[in-house]
Amino acid sequence: MSSLPEIKDHQQSEEKKNEVNDANHNNAVISSYWGITRPKVRREDGTEWPWNCFMPWDSYRADVSIDVTKHHTPKSLTDKVAFRSVKFLRVLSDLYFKERYGCHAMMLETIAAVPGMVGGMLLHLKSLRKFQHSGGWIKALLEEAENERMHLMTMVELVKPSWHERLLIFTAQGVFFNAFFVFYLLSPKAAHRFVGYLEEEAVISYTQHLDAIESGKVENVPAPAIAIDYWRLPKDATLKDVVTVIRADEAHHRDVNHFASDIHHQGKELKEAPAPIGYH
Ligand SMILES: [Fe+2]
Ligand SMILES: [Fe+2]
Repeated sequence: MSSLPEIKDHQQSEEKKNEVNDANHNNAVISSYWGITRPKVRREDGTEWPWNCFMPWDSYRADVSIDVTKHHTPKSLTDKVAFRSVKFLRVLSDLYFKERYGCHAMMLETIAAVPGMVGGMLLHLKSLRKFQHSGGWIKALLEEAENERMHLMTMVELVKPSWHERLLIFTAQGVFFNAFFVFYLLSPKAAHRFVGYLEEEAVISYTQHLDAIESGKVENVPAPAIAIDYWRLPKDATLKDVVTVIRADEAHHRDVNHFASDIHHQGKELKEAPAPIGYH
């Protein structure tokens, strides 16, 4: 049986734990023996920057003037196989998601953030092995992966995944990461073309999402706070604004990946062409 002082000690330590949790929650700066502190960062309007996951210099205004109808006509056998594979996956995903646009977007982003990371990682390893510069392509592909992950962080504010969706994501990631890793090792040319077509489908999906918002099928809710800061949107931005900027991002990824595949099609390596760093 516990004695009274023990119970009191336990209560005090619980209170202390709660205080620490509150401090973490309130973004209080935790003092560090290692001298690691985050300097106070402010928005352009002088208000305090609330995010640790990205900084104001990572945020940008999306170029929404990009052509969202552009399509790469498959020419080579590689192109045709990549195009048909993506179209087949599209049929499967349409059967599964039907008109659940938010859920579709969230699941899509868990996959879309993989290729840039795999491509960037493999180019990084190649640079180490061959003592070669990458021409900026490591950074460009990792930027793409990060941008896709921010799409996911935005979408998850709007759609809460169920346990079976989480299980599906878990399984899909295990399969897709490993399959894409081998795919990129065997043929970066085909892998980038495949991603180019995936991005074309992402543009189509977000266009359908926008149509559903405009027709009132999907409620045009206020934009999540993270999206307002990441894309420097107005404070009263809505879901429609968010989907518009995400669609513009996807169109940029489409161009980057088709461009990368074109470089390989010309018998060249990526490092021989300027990498689209900071291309939004
Ligand atoms: Fe995305
Ligand atoms: Fe994308």
